[in-house]
Amino acid sequence: MAAEIIDGKAFAAQLREKVGALAADFAAKAGRKAGLAVVLVGDDPASQVYVGSKGKATLAANMASFEHRLPESTSEGDLLALVERLNADPAVDGILVQLPLPDHIDEQAVIAAIDPDKDVDGFHVANAGRLAVGQSGFVPCTPLGCMMLLTDRLGDLSGLNAVVIGRSNIVGKPMAQLLLDANATVTIAHSRTKDLADVVRRADIVVAAVGRAEMIRADWIKPGATVIDVGINRLAPEPGANKGRLVGDVAFDEVREVAGAITPVPGGVGPMTIAVLLRNTLVAAHRNAG
Ligand code: GUN
Repeated sequence: MAAEIIDGKAFAAQLREKVGALAADFAAKAGRKAGLAVVLVGDDPASQVYVGSKGKATLAANMASFEHRLPESTSEGDLLALVERLNADPAVDGILVQLPLPDHIDEQAVIAAIDPDKDVDGFHVANAGRLAVGQSGFVPCTPLGCMMLLTDRLGDLSGLNAVVIGRSNIVGKPMAQLLLDANATVTIAHSRTKDLADVVRRADIVVAAVGRAEMIRADWIKPGATVIDVGINRLAPEPGANKGRLVGDVAFDEVREVAGAITPVPGGVGPMTIAVLLRNTLVAAHRNAG
């Protein structure tokens, strides 16, 4: 039987709606809107699109958006000075510095400069540490969005075998932590994992975040498993087209014949990231106002 398609786009729209209503309440009580500052350095086309979408979604959710678009040549010192200004600005509840940054800027130094209480991306070591030891802090948006989709479909994850493919600080590691907190039995697999297909075949839950187009095949999947595809990869264009198709890390057309449920690309995990970012910003606003 073909898998249920997990509609991340619809789920994210509902979450944005809910956050928007709560943000309107916040504005009425606090006498100001919750505010998100987004910083983009350089002119990477994909990042420009993401930053534009974040700004629009922020305004639509009854929050204030502060966009800072800086040239590629911006020095690390100037970027750190801007982060310091945003840290000190009471109208700014959340700060997001779009990654990747140009090579001449030390990403870790910039993340470290963000006030952990405004770090709505959850990338600061203070927030990574809080997640690791089970204290409340900001959790990275993409893995938190994946968890929302998983618990919505599966309810209690206790005792389920979860395999996370990918070990990045942004997705793989926090994803594994969240699954562990939900009492799943978690394996983190990566490019050096031996017999990857066999490891994945044991999973009730597969979270794919490797960044390799359609790498995960149908014969890797346990029948009925829930498959969450975080990958966004653009294929080479077909003859006559000027842009290639977007695909995930999972070979969707064949895996859907085996899995119990699967997120599509696009329209699965992607829309959840922005919705969770808005949610994190509203949480930050309540903390800063309280
Ligand atoms: N680049 C790609 N995804 C993200 C994200 O979630 N946050 C930031 N800051 N940069 C990104």
